[in-house]
Order: sequence, then C-alpha cells, then structure tokens
Amino acid sequence: MHALAEARSLVSKARRIAVLTGAGISSESGIPTFRDAMTGLWSRFSPEDLATPEAFARDPRTVWQWYAWRRELVERAQPNAGHAALVELERRTKRFALITQNVDGLHARAGSRHVIELHGNILRTRCAREGRILEESAMRPGSPPTCAACGSHARPDVVWFGERLSPESLSLAGEAARGCDLFLSIGTSALVEPAASLPLEALGAGAALIEVNPQPTPLSRHATLVLAGAAGEVLPRLVGPA
Ligand code: OAD
Repeated sequence: MHALAEARSLVSKARRIAVLTGAGISSESGIPTFRDAMTGLWSRFSPEDLATPEAFARDPRTVWQWYAWRRELVERAQPNAGHAALVELERRTKRFALITQNVDGLHARAGSRHVIELHGNILRTRCAREGRILEESAMRPGSPPTCAACGSHARPDVVWFGERLSPESLSLAGEAARGCDLFLSIGTSALVEPAASLPLEALGAGAALIEVNPQPTPLSRHATLVLAGAAGEVLPRLVGPA
C-alpha cells in the first residue's frame, strides 16, 4: 500500500496521538529553518554564537537585535497548511499532544489549543535575573530593554544552547510520548536532545512512528513510515479535509 494511504489508515485508527514539530513546519511560512536562519544579514554568525547565555553576557545588544530581527520575521509570518492540518487533527483526536521545538508561536496562532513549547517562545520576554515574564510596561526601553523592577537585562523567553528546558514541559512531553499509540515527527532534523529522544520513547512504548520531512534524518530508519515531502503538502493529505 502507498505510504500515504498506509499513514492515513494509521492516523484514522489512532486514539492517542503525539506530535513533535521542528523548524521545518514553519519554513513554508517564510521562517528559515534553524540551519538556514543565518541567511542574509546574519550570515556571519552561527546560532551557537548568538543563542547562548555566554553570547548574551558578552554582547547583549547583538543577541537582542538578532532576536528582534527574528521576532519581526515571526510577526509577519502566517501559519501554513501544515499548522492548520494539525489543528484539525487535534479537533478530531480524543487524546492529542502537540510538542514543538519552535519558538515562533505559529501553532497557537493557527488555533492549536494545547501546545507544549519545549524551547520557549520568542514573542515572550523575561527578566534575565528574576526569570519572570515582562510586559512592555514593566521594562525600560533599550537594546536590550531592562527590567523596571530590578534593572537587569530583559531577554527572550527561549531556551538557549546549554540551558535547561522547563522540567514541567519536558515531563508533559515525555508522558505524551510514552502514552500515545501514534507519534508524528514533523520538520525536525531529530538531532537536538532532549526533543530527539521523544519519538524513540514513543516507539519504546509500542507506538507507531510516522516521520514527515523532505530529507532523511537519523530518525528515519526507526520510523514505521516516512512521508518524504513538505509538511504543508503532506499534512493536509494525511489528515484529510476538516
Ligand atoms: P533544523 O533546522 O535542525 O531542521 C529542520 C528540518 O526540517 C530539516 O530536517 C529539514 O529537512 C526539514 N524541513 C525543511 N523544510 C521542510 C518542510 N517544508 N516540511 C517539513 N520538513 C522540512 O530545525 P529543528 O530540527 O527544529 O534549538 O532544530 C531543533 C533545534 O535545534 C531548534 O529548536 C533549535 C536548534 O538548536 C534551540 O534553539 C534550543
């Protein structure tokens, strides 16, 4: 049976679905994937040079401006057909968990109700010292702005290289992976831990694994089915009409 037809049958039979998405699902919304994110203005930097606590301590202005550039890109972007297909799948599935590594907030904007944002959200800003989320009114302008309460730098509410993920998000994601009967890995290179272990935990717990990615990844050989294509094309066909 053709892989897509087989995948559709797995989706229709599944009662508990967990989904992990990566930058690939947002690439059709015009947001470069993490690896390509350095095109244009920022091509002379690598993410490791910018998305780290050390880089922020060393040069808060450049790190803040890079995130301001990415935030601008995200605010101009629209969710695409891939995001929309996952909203429909959530509506139709009794137990559904959407886990994302993306910080662009596009799943929520598409209408996904319960999104586990493993790496945070670029549209949120927090006090670098106190950790609490800062609204505009709680900051003094600057690049980066400063926390009006304690004077420390404000920083994007995202996970940087070398930083811990929120234990709560991680345990929710782990539970979803171990408790599903179908796991979809979409648009991720499956390289960065701990997210990369989630599909393997699902397999270990007896779930079927479908990967959606135009390129092979280290996960491909473990997958029950690989749908080699763009999420914006494959997901609407996988999920079917609303
Ligand atoms: P990557 O840039 O590592 O991988 C993007 C994946 O999406 C690749 O495997 C592409 O083949 C695939 N892809 C590209 N276009 C696609 C499309 N239209 N449809 C489906 N797939 C497509 O991004 P992530 O795997 O998300 O972490 O990277 C994981 C983490 O690495 C990021 O969250 C970030 C980075 O370090 C932090 O910032 C902590």
